[in-house]
Amino acid sequence: MNLILLGPPGAGKGTQAKRLQDRYGVVQISTGDMLRAEVAAGSEVGREAKAVMEAGKLVSDDILIRMLAARITRPDCARGFILDGFPRTVPQAEALDRVLAETALKLDAVIELAVDDAALVERIAGRYTCAKCGAGYHDSFQKPQVEGVCDSCGSPDFSRRADDNRETVVARLEAYHRQTAPILPHYAAQGKLQAVDGMADIDDVTRQLIVILDGVAA
Ligand code: AP5
Ligand code: MG
Ligand code: ZN
Repeated sequence: MNLILLGPPGAGKGTQAKRLQDRYGVVQISTGDMLRAEVAAGSEVGREAKAVMEAGKLVSDDILIRMLAARITRPDCARGFILDGFPRTVPQAEALDRVLAETALKLDAVIELAVDDAALVERIAGRYTCAKCGAGYHDSFQKPQVEGVCDSCGSPDFSRRADDNRETVVARLEAYHRQTAPILPHYAAQGKLQAVDGMADIDDVTRQLIVILDGVAA
């Protein structure tokens, strides 16, 4: 099953993709996580991406399209993938159509997590992740069961993203509305676009996604 999760920064793409990958045996492909790994490694791509990401702008289509095309053809994607953070521009969506046609893969669903802008700043400002295993948490909405200890791996080390501050969030939202929202009609025209209420609580959003995906998988 091949799926795209769309939605603004903080919509819950990463949170939901992590839950769905175990249930459906597919892999989460987060272009944001891939870029952050390049930045941490100090690679050429990482050096180019760092300042752009910290400003809340989009990294160039060329880099992202190359990265994605190489990633979705790796063996671990054989049972399917969930794209989280790609495509983010119309040229990226068109390039993905070409890569899928060339590799005889198809998209089973494109799901928009619809969330009001006002909720996103609070979600992003409160977000943190386990530095060891990457599990996601939130100061108010998703606390670990034991304070200061990761539920998944027991690590006491957590980290916050360099672009998760109020100023950068405003730039990221602006980029979403100007550059990414225009891809919604691209998928609506293909008859693939569905939306879920991303304002609901985390478990409820997962339930809405499962209803759609069980239908696709059946
Ligand atoms: P990326 O890492 O993709 O960031 P983003 O799109 O801004 O999305 P986020 O990861 O911030 O949000 P999310 O939807 O995953 O929310 P989450 O589940 O964590 O990209 C970062 C940067 O990389 C970009 O700005 C750009 O520079 C670059 N980039 C990446 N891809 C690119 C591309 N294709 N082209 C060009 N540049 C690219 O949830 C957020 C928080 O809210 C969490 O704390 C969570 O616990 C909580 N939460 C989640 N759901 C709920 C809920 N239902 N109720 C309450 N709280 C919730
Ligand atoms: Mg994310
Ligand atoms: Zn952990």
